[in-house]
Parts: sequence; structure tokens; C-alpha cells
Amino acid sequence: MKALVLSGGAGTRLRPLSHSTPKQLVPVAGRPVLFHALAELRSLGVREVGVIISEGTHGQQIRMAVGDGSQFGLEVTYLPQDAPRGLAHCVIIAREFLADDDFVMYLGDNIFAGGLAEPLQAFRADQPAAQLVVTKVGDPSAYGVVEVASDGHVTGLQEKPKEPRSDLAVTGAYFFTPAIHEAVRAIEPSARGELEITDAIQWLVTGGQDVRARQFAGYWADTGTLESVLTCNRVLLDDLTGDVRGSVDEASELSGPVVVEEGARVVRSRITGPVIIGAGTVVEDSRVGRFTSIGNGCRLHDAGVEDSILLDQASVHGVGTLHGSIIGKAGDVRRREDGSATHRLLVGDDSRIDVPA
Ligand code: DAU
Repeated sequence: MKALVLSGGAGTRLRPLSHSTPKQLVPVAGRPVLFHALAELRSLGVREVGVIISEGTHGQQIRMAVGDGSQFGLEVTYLPQDAPRGLAHCVIIAREFLADDDFVMYLGDNIFAGGLAEPLQAFRADQPAAQLVVTKVGDPSAYGVVEVASDGHVTGLQEKPKEPRSDLAVTGAYFFTPAIHEAVRAIEPSARGELEITDAIQWLVTGGQDVRARQFAGYWADTGTLESVLTCNRVLLDDLTGDVRGSVDEASELSGPVVVEEGARVVRSRITGPVIIGAGTVVEDSRVGRFTSIGNGCRLHDAGVEDSILLDQASVHGVGTLHGSIIGKAGDVRRREDGSATHRLLVGDDSRIDVPA
């Protein structure tokens, strides 16, 4: 079985991070979302992976980060897409790479905690033309929605419907046989101008082909918004195993699972896990609370941070109240040194800042 990983797209809901970073490279629990996906594919026994990337700098960043895939035990082939023309368009682009193999299509901004071994096993046992992985959600209108008969057969699909016919959302893992190739060529672009994979799967259903759905038992996240990135970070950190490779001085106190990466230094600080402190980061005279992921090369001094994500090279000085925050690459949060009680902000495009009343 091959895999097709979708890592193009625009990521507008993840601004400002997605101005400079493709959304699939936003870190969750210390690793880019896409790395979690690639590790999961390898654990399913996949070796050959086609990765859809956008043309331009976002695509280049993904190439740089993933390389030839050998760091994951994978062989990666890049498949550039000129514009986000839809999930079914990605299958059209990948036709030659996929040849006549079965494949799992995996959205590069999705996380499946607990993995996909069970749905893969069901796909192999039942041998349907296509198999979706679905889950119950509170707001189905934000997703592809699927109607499923009691025996697991799919009877209908809708893409982001105003009036959903069920509360089962299509997640970002699809198991396909080569039957999908005719379907993606048969459909027309939707009202939003994209070739929708939901329409291609509906085409299979309408044509009487065997399409099934497996309900996902674990935690699933589409990390398309900043809120969902933080939630996902929390869920994945909950399973963290502590590992101290950097240095922690005697005046510091670690409790709960804490990862201190190579070259990181913790000085006169209190860290309450689950927390990840990235390589080369310095935490001094600070408190780092539960569910915090700190990237590489960060600096915290006289700081208090919890339930937050700091991207590489970010810094916090003299600010003790950060909670539920995401600080972008090399972002700098600091207390004013001139004694003034006013806020002085230099805020990038599409950023958001919440201050106390
Ligand atoms: O996350 C699950 C949902 O994913 C499903 O419920 C929907 O049925 C499905 O259409 C999709 O909806 P989204 O609006 O969330 O898709 P998004 O545009 O975020 O794209 C998903 C991934 O695919 C993301 O990593 C970007 C990539 N992508 C997207 C498009 C449209 C591409 O690589 N190329 C594209 O043309």
C-alpha cells in the first residue's frame, strides 16, 4: 500500500503562523503536525509516500523539513500542485505515482492519536472500493458529512453542508482502491471551485460501488485553527514520557513528565510537566506549566508560561502570565523596561492579542 499525503493548500485560518510557515509544519507536542502523520504511516507499514506540496516557498519548506523521507524510514516523492484545486485534484496529480496500487490518502494537517491500524485492518479484510474514517462531531457543517447504514455502508455524502444529514464527519484518512481514479475524473468543481473528494466518493456510491465507513475510536484533530492546534498539543502531551538530555541545575525543580532536549538548559526554574523544552533553549528564573511545548533555541527569563506553544527562537522576558498562547518563530514578549504601565505592541499581520480587562 502507498500513501498520498496532502500538504499543499493555503492555511488561511492559521494566520499569522501560516504567512511564513506551511500549516503542516506548525509544531504540536514538539514536532510538526506533518511529522506525526509520516511517523504514523511508517508504523502502518507504508514505505512509498507521495507528498502534495504547493509551488513556492511553502512547498520548499516542506521539502527541506522532510527531505527524502529516510528520517522516517520512508521514500518520499514530491508532487507539486500549482494551486489548491481540491482534494480530488491531488489524486489526479498523483495518478502516475499511485499506479494501480491501493493507497491511504492522509491530510497533512490531521492528527489521529492512537493511530489508524484498526481502519487499515478493516479495509484489508472487507476489500471495499473505498473506506472512510469518520467520527462524531458537534458541528458537522464544518466538515464533509457522511450518512452510514447500520452495516457500515456509506449511503450519501455532503461537503460542508448548511443542513447536515448526520453528525458523522469525514476525517482526513481515506483508504482507496484504484476505483477512485475514474471517480476523480468524472466530477465537476464545486461551488467553491474545488474538485471535492466527497463528490468523487459520492460518485462511487451512486454508481453502486462498495464504500464503507469506520468510526475512529481515538482523538482526531484537524489542526486548521489556532484553537485546535492548542487542544491537540494538550491531548498529545498527555501521553508524554519524560526524558532529560539537556542540563537542569540543582536549584530547579521538575515534576510530571518533562522532556529537556539536547543542549537545553534549565536554571533556577520550576517545570511542571507535561512539558517539552526544545534543543538549545534556555529557561532561567522561570515557571513553565502543564501542556507547554517550547521549540528550539528559545529564551525564557523571569517568565511564566503554561498551556502554550513557542516556536523556534521565541523569547519571553519578565512576563509571568502567558496562558493558552502561541508565539511564532523568533517572536519576543517582554516587560517594558521604562516603568510605563501601557502596552506597547508590534503586532504582525493577522495576529491576535488578548489582554486582561
Ligand atoms: O479535515 C477533514 C476535512 O478535510 C473533511 O471533513 C472535508 O470533507 C475535506 O474536504 C477537508 O476539508 P478542509 O476544508 O479542512 O480541507 P483543507 O482545505 O484544510 O485541506 C486539507 C489538507 O489538504 C491540508 O493539509 C491542505 C491540503 N490540500 C488542500 C487542497 C484544497 C492540498 O494539498 N491541496 C488542495 O488543493
